[in-house]
Amino acid sequence: MRLKGAVVVVTGASSGIGEATAIAFARRGARLELGARRLEKLNSVAQRCRQAGSPDVNVRLLDVGQRASARAFIAATLRDHERLDVLINNAGVGWAGRVHDMTEEKVDELIATNLKGVINTTQATLPWMLERRRGVIINVASVVGFRPSPYSALYSATKHAVVGFSHALRGELSGTGVKVCVVYPGVTGGTEFFKDPDRPIGFQYPASWVANLIVRTARYPRRDAMVLPLRLAHLAEPVLGGLMDHAIGEIRRRNLQD
Ligand SMILES: NC(=O)c1ccc[n+]([C@@H]2O[C@H](COP(=O)([O-])OP(=O)(O)OC[C@H]3O[C@@H](n4cnc5c(N)ncnc54)[C@H](OP(=O)(O)O)[C@@H]3O)[C@@H](O)[C@H]2O)c1
Repeated sequence: MRLKGAVVVVTGASSGIGEATAIAFARRGARLELGARRLEKLNSVAQRCRQAGSPDVNVRLLDVGQRASARAFIAATLRDHERLDVLINNAGVGWAGRVHDMTEEKVDELIATNLKGVINTTQATLPWMLERRRGVIINVASVVGFRPSPYSALYSATKHAVVGFSHALRGELSGTGVKVCVVYPGVTGGTEFFKDPDRPIGFQYPASWVANLIVRTARYPRRDAMVLPLRLAHLAEPVLGGLMDHAIGEIRRRNLQD
């Protein structure tokens, strides 16, 4: 995939990984459509993307969990550019705590944003990509998409669902020219994801690393991507899985009690 002049859609571009991803694509001369719920933040990201070299940046209000909003967003992109080369499904929300403490609103929000959001934009995009027999869809999951984390049960479940959806869709689209890839970030700094600054979370990958991994995946959409130490941890999973559950559970339990 040649990125110069390509039309790239980034959901959840108003902060964190989405913002870093937009800037990383801008540096390669891509044209950008950025969506999220906070327009003011999107406008300042757009400004940085123009300075970084993008020839064309549009921002729009988007609530990925609302089917109508996702459809309108993708339709506007196609109206503006008459093409859509890369869709980055990045918008997401997290929640940490005990399952029995989750409110119904939180449950609905996690499923609507993290899972339905991916489905909504993908369904809106696919007809156009299939007709042209080209395009790349990159879904931002998480390490908890293959290693569920205690005290993040529903978040882990939504990311597992995104991985399952992506892999099944990849098979369904085989031979059509449309590619589907998953990116698995670990704990990533420079984001608004961990809102409690008093709670230490240990080593964090810079958002720019994850952004560069996403850009590389768009250029070579052959397979899923995760940063190297995580890939090694994934290989050790069958041996270390139980121990990791215990260790992560203990750390989180202590954090919650503090
Ligand atoms: N940070 C990490 O450690 C980490 C690790 C693994 C995976 N991830 C994943 O990475 C992705 C990006 O998260 P982040 O770490 O960059 O956190 P972040 O800074 O909180 O960014 C989340 C983005 O999603 C947007 N968003 C949330 N709900 C939305 C909705 N309903 N419609 C449209 N946009 C919505 C937010 O914008 P608005 O509030 O303006 O809508 C924001 O731009 C998420 O999918 C997350 O699950 C993060």
